[in-house]
Order: sequence, then C-alpha cells, then structure tokens
Amino acid sequence: MCGIIGYIGTKQTQNILTAGLKKLEYRGYDSVGIAVHDGESVHVRKTEGRLSDLDSQVKESPVAGTVGIGHTRWATHGRPSNENSHPHTDSQKEFAVVHNGIIENYLQIKKDLIEKGYKFQSETDSEVISHLFSDLFDGNMVSTIQKVVRELEGAYALGIVSQYEPEKLYAVRQDSPLIIGAGEEENLISSDIPAVLEYTRDVYILNDGEMAVITPEEVTLLGVDSGNSIQREIFKVNWDMEQAEKNGYDHFMLKEIFEQPKALEKTMTGRLNKEAKQVEFEELNWTHEQIKNWNKISIVACGTAYHAGLIGKHVIEELTRIPVEVEVASEFRYRNPIIDEKTLVIVVSQSGETADTLAALRQSQHLGAHVLAITNVVGSSIAREADEVILTMAGPEIAVASTKAYTTQVLSFYLLGIYLSEAKGTLNDEFKEQLVEAITAIPEKIEEILEHTKGIQWYGESIKDADSVFFLGRGADHAVSLEGSLKLKEISYIHSEAYAAGELKHGTLALIEEGTPVVALMTQEAVSEKMLGNIKEVKARGAQVLGIAVEGDMKIWDYVDETCFIPAAFSILTPLLTVIPLQLIAYYTSLALGNDVDKPRNLAKSVTVE
Ligand code: F6R
Repeated sequence: MCGIIGYIGTKQTQNILTAGLKKLEYRGYDSVGIAVHDGESVHVRKTEGRLSDLDSQVKESPVAGTVGIGHTRWATHGRPSNENSHPHTDSQKEFAVVHNGIIENYLQIKKDLIEKGYKFQSETDSEVISHLFSDLFDGNMVSTIQKVVRELEGAYALGIVSQYEPEKLYAVRQDSPLIIGAGEEENLISSDIPAVLEYTRDVYILNDGEMAVITPEEVTLLGVDSGNSIQREIFKVNWDMEQAEKNGYDHFMLKEIFEQPKALEKTMTGRLNKEAKQVEFEELNWTHEQIKNWNKISIVACGTAYHAGLIGKHVIEELTRIPVEVEVASEFRYRNPIIDEKTLVIVVSQSGETADTLAALRQSQHLGAHVLAITNVVGSSIAREADEVILTMAGPEIAVASTKAYTTQVLSFYLLGIYLSEAKGTLNDEFKEQLVEAITAIPEKIEEILEHTKGIQWYGESIKDADSVFFLGRGADHAVSLEGSLKLKEISYIHSEAYAAGELKHGTLALIEEGTPVVALMTQEAVSEKMLGNIKEVKARGAQVLGIAVEGDMKIWDYVDETCFIPAAFSILTPLLTVIPLQLIAYYTSLALGNDVDKPRNLAKSVTVE
C-alpha cells in the first residue's frame, strides 16, 4: 500500500526521487521520505504528511548523491509520524531500507533484536529489516539479503542502499509489486510503471522470490533462495506519460471519468467484431467442451471491482444461464468455498495486486478451479498467476476512486457473456447481433452524458451538507447503485447506503426523513412499475428524490424532484451509462466540500496488504 522508488545513475537523485514519489503518491500519502548515499554516508530526509512537506525539508537541507531510495506511506503498523516514515535505517546508518507490505512476524524479530541491544525508533514492522541487515551483515550484500529475507514472514517489496556497497542499489520482492526501469547509464526501481516512464519504457518485472542487484549500467536478477542469476525479457511499455498525467483536468478522477469512452473502445478493439457481429477472444483458448464442463462461475474481487462482478453476475446469468456467485475476496479466502475443477473462477482487479484477490486466486487454483483474471495491469501478480487474462485497456488509473477501470471491467463481462453463450447456445443470432451493435454504441452514449454535466454538478453540490444519501435500484440498477454509493462515501465522506429498492421497507425506510436525498435508478424495464412504487414510499416520508431513467421514460417526472436521463439503451446495458452520473455526483460533491478528490483520507489505490 505504499510506494517505493529508487535511482542509481549519473544524475543527482534527490529530485528524481521526489518526482517519482509524486507519481506514486496515490499508493499512500500519510508520510514520505528519501535516503541518498553521497559517497561518504547515507542521508535521510523524511516526514509525516504530504510530499510538499518533504519538498520544504529538502529545500532547506538538500541531499547530494547519485544513488537513493524513496517511499510514500499508507500506514498499517504504527500511526503516521516522522519516526514511522520510511526509509528506516539501522542505528549506525549503514543500511537504509524502504518497505512495502507487512512483516507478519515482526514482533518476535523486534523482541529478539532488542534483547541483543538494538534500539528502535519507530512502531513499524518495517524497521526490523534495517536492524536485521546490521545484525546479519557478513561482508557481502547478496548473501546478507538472503539471510535477512529468510527471517521475514509476510509480504515485502524492498529497496536497499548500503554503506558497504554504495555503488549499488538492491531490490527484493515477495508478494508486493516491484519493477525495474532499465535506462541509459541509469536504472530505477518502483512500485509502479508511471514513476519510471520519464526515464525509460524498458521495464523488468520482478517476480516473487527474486532480488535485483543494480548499478547504473547493469541490472542483475537473482533467485533469492538459490542465488542463481535469472534471464528476463524486457517488457516494453506502450502507453505514454500523457496518459498518466492530468492533461488539463483539475483532477485525475475527472480526467479518468472523461476517458471512459476511449477506454471502452480500446477494450472492445480486437474482441468485438463489428462486421461479423460477434465476440472473439484471442487470449481465451477454451474449447466448447471445456466451457460446457463448468457448472458454476464464481466471481471474486474487492470494492469497486466487486461491484463490477455484481453486474457480471446479471449479465452472464442472463446471457448463458450458467449460475454465477459473486463474493468479496476477503471473505472468500477464509471460507472454505465450494470450488472445484467444474468451476470457472473470475478474479477482477484493476491493479492486479490486491492481496485478498490474489490469495483467492491461489486458493481457487489449489482447489482445482480454472482462473480467469480481468485486470488492468500487464505483468501484475494476478495477471501472471491466472490461467487466462482479459486485459482491460483503461490505461493507468491514478485517482484512488476507480472509474474507468470499473466500466472496462463491466464491459469485459458483456463480452465474456456473449463469448460463453456461443458454447452454451443460449442466444439467438438476431439478439446477439443487436446486442453487439448496441455495445458498439455505448462509448458514444457516454460522450452524450459527458457533454451535459451542469445539472449533475448542481445536484452534487446540492447534497454536500447531507448527513446521509440513499441510492435505490432493482436488479442491475441495484448493483450500480452500490457503486454510486461507494464512490460518494469514499471521496465526500458523507454516509451513504445503497439498497435493493424492494428491501427498504424491511427496516431502512425508518432512516428516511424530511429532505433526505435519495438517488433512485429506474432503467430496468421489467421492474420499472415496482420502482415507481418504491419511489412513492420514500417521497411519502419526505425524501428529496433524484430519479435516473432512460430518455423518453416520462412517467418518472411526476414522482421525483429532479431527473437525470441517460440515452436509451437495452436494459441489460444501462449499467455502463447510469454509473457515469453517479461518478460525477460523487466528484462534484467532494469538490464542493473542498476534499482532496484524488487522494481521499485513509485510502490508498493499491491494497497490497490484508
Ligand atoms: C474504490 C476502489 C477500490 C478498489 C479495490 C480493489 O474506488 O477503487 O474499492 O476497487 O480496492 O482494487 P483492485 O481493483 O486494484 O483489486
């Protein structure tokens, strides 16, 4: 959940590290720091707070040197404080370490080290690593790293500089992402690709159980256990920095909301054959027999990706009649799920690094299931470990609140549903062709919604002082309303709940009072009359209702206070459209409250810890 950067080369490293940290800040932003070796000794600058606080510190007291490491933190063990910030050093400042992950056995290690006389400065699990280096150093960094790592249980990506071999930068990975950017007379390590793109597009992806010994000219990969050298092909990054920058928008979230039509088009490309009006997946080598053998699909994910999975259930069951269950990964992994070789497990993850989702993937494979990943990050742990991968082509998503990753995940489920229906013989050709055509038209319809955001902006601002906001819907509308509610609470900090509209009267209706904002989604034709009944129920208790309906469906006018129309589409496809106003409501409410839209409190983009 933290961000790691490291540099070794011919340039002064301080500003390279802080610039890299800026690109990684979405991974955590409660404290930040760097350690630079100036040829004589290691110098650390670190602080609780944002990168701007570190910038002031290094302006007053700069550090010179061409090798260094940096870290942006999202607290797990130990509150945000100067002491708990990384890098951590041993008492002699002979080793400086940045760590992403959790060391599960740190209390025991700490106790043993304290007994040996080591003095700790912080409450973190990570500090044990720097003291372990001091304790176990045998004159050779590679063998010392092997010894240190042998002591650690848990997840870690490490960047290390040492007093003993200051002309080298070291990196180790186990269950936390780490990549190496290979440049010209300079090399970098980073938790994520955008931070190295200014310097190189050539990247090595470090695997679990591997370490890297890095000089300005060379990157040597070694197996941690064996010490054997590993040959790895360079991965060429084919997207550019502009895609990871704000590009004139005030916030990444707004930019990413507006990028959705393009992201969807890219995700369709090569998969949705507009001429033949069918879906093709080069990346899926499944036979019809194999597909028919699956008697159940289990979708596992967290947060927004889980919400995409809920739409996936509606879509796949509707199109293929294969039973689908959806579960949050943190529950699935500890529940002894009923999964076997007749189950297709679909894990959904933007980052491809979410610890719970990765654990669910491994558990499913262990139980014999076939695992398909829907992910946005090539080379991520989930992408590498799954049996097959559908890559969403959303490009880098920087805002903590996920938007374009969600819609591309949802789109992937439509494509997959149509693809699976071929083997199952569940769709007639005419409907399939109409559906393919209708999906092709979705990006344009999203453009239409994005051309008229004034009303949505007004609504978002109007609910900024609400204590609570309720989202109601039935069927797929309910699944989308869960996502709308999550978006609102995570960036506006307003309490919000999403309810299956028919369930409200079984308890939650008691919370509706004069003026309570309710966002009612009414795009599912089959249940629209029922939905009108639910809207009447909340109106009768004084709720202020915003109704979201399909263009031309005028009956909603008489029942709600405000309306937002989405372009007409098949009921099954409306989730891709209704979510857009919900994302924008969350954005404008957060903006009106003066919150940090892209970096909401207490959250981080990539949750690589449990
Ligand atoms: C909310 C959000 C999170 C993520 C969740 C899973 O806007 O982004 O709920 O969806 O942490 O992350 P990934 O998709 O990277 O596995």
